[in-house]
Amino acid sequence: MRSRCFELIDRLEKDKSLKREEWVFLFEHFEEPGLSEYLFEKAVRISKEVFGNKVYTRGLIEFTNYCKNNCLYCGIRRDNRNASRYRLTKEDILSCCEEGYELGFRTFVLQGGEDPAFTDEILVDIVRSIKDLYPDCALTLSIGEKPRKSYEAYYEAGADRYLLRHETGDKAHYARLHPGNMSFENRRRCLFDLKDIGYQVGSGFMVGSPYQTSDTLASDFLFLKELSPHMVGIGPFVPHHDTPFAKETGGTVALTLFCIGLLRLMLPKALLPATTALGTISPRGREMGILAGANVVMPNLSPVKVRKKYELYDNKICTGDEAAECRQCLENRMKSIGYELSRSRGDHPDLA
Ligand code: SAM
Ligand code: FES
Repeated sequence: MRSRCFELIDRLEKDKSLKREEWVFLFEHFEEPGLSEYLFEKAVRISKEVFGNKVYTRGLIEFTNYCKNNCLYCGIRRDNRNASRYRLTKEDILSCCEEGYELGFRTFVLQGGEDPAFTDEILVDIVRSIKDLYPDCALTLSIGEKPRKSYEAYYEAGADRYLLRHETGDKAHYARLHPGNMSFENRRRCLFDLKDIGYQVGSGFMVGSPYQTSDTLASDFLFLKELSPHMVGIGPFVPHHDTPFAKETGGTVALTLFCIGLLRLMLPKALLPATTALGTISPRGREMGILAGANVVMPNLSPVKVRKKYELYDNKICTGDEAAECRQCLENRMKSIGYELSRSRGDHPDLA
């Protein structure tokens, strides 16, 4: 007789949802022999039905590592005095876009710490300039928690998408990962505001973050079901030596892949990246991510001179490569598993 876990996977595929205690049960038994393979087979079939063998690409521009926040896990947190800080100028950012456009990217992701030097006025000007120069490209922002008015201003200026991981769907867990001036309520408010404004929204969490349990993971999936984002970025937690979590254990490849597979079954059309963090903890992590149901990769377009400084966690990969090398490397990696990098904007299928 097949175990309850296999039945739960079948039901997740059919109903696209599970109850809390069912999620908890699955996470508690995820290492059951044959279960992951069973899940990945379904996840890849669904991903191929929706996206074929195309993998979407996003060119990531890490434009500032200044941050006013102090998230306990993050290498560029405010109190890390050893971080060597940098900001790219508007001209630097535009030249990253120019290089990216030539390489075939049609989505740019501007990511950074919450840096007060980038006022809304400056950000709006950067967004407008990129959209004027590259009207056929999608622009994604990933610059943290802001008031609704700021999100509206960037959207009106032309930003299409916004990435803001919820980090954990459990309020008490959230409080253990963040300082007291940050709250799950505000994170939630931001995500629902972003959706309401009209952005394609990406959320997500770290797998294996300190104090994560099967119950908090269940909360992650219940929260994601409720939010129903267009994108979900998950990667393993990887410790950074200059943070309060330096001595904590990192997330595993196995659980990260399992979560990717579950996400594909729950949100069949979602854009799911095989993340750099997954590639950092395993040499073929990104390939394995695609073979567990992911369909996006995010090669780095940041200037090589600043890459090492955007060190969210230890041993981050791709910090020494030119943008062209990075794209080529991923192209080869995807080819090796029978996939191709797409040159489209890669919108969510319901919006394309
Ligand atoms: N400031 C923006 C924000 O908060 O959304 C964007 C930058 S933030 C560094 C991007 C993501 O990096 C976070 O959402 C977090 O999940 C991830 N991250 C930070 N530290 C990490 C670590 N030690 N291991 C894995 N991922 C990490
Ligand atoms: Fe950057 Fe491979 S993806 S070097």
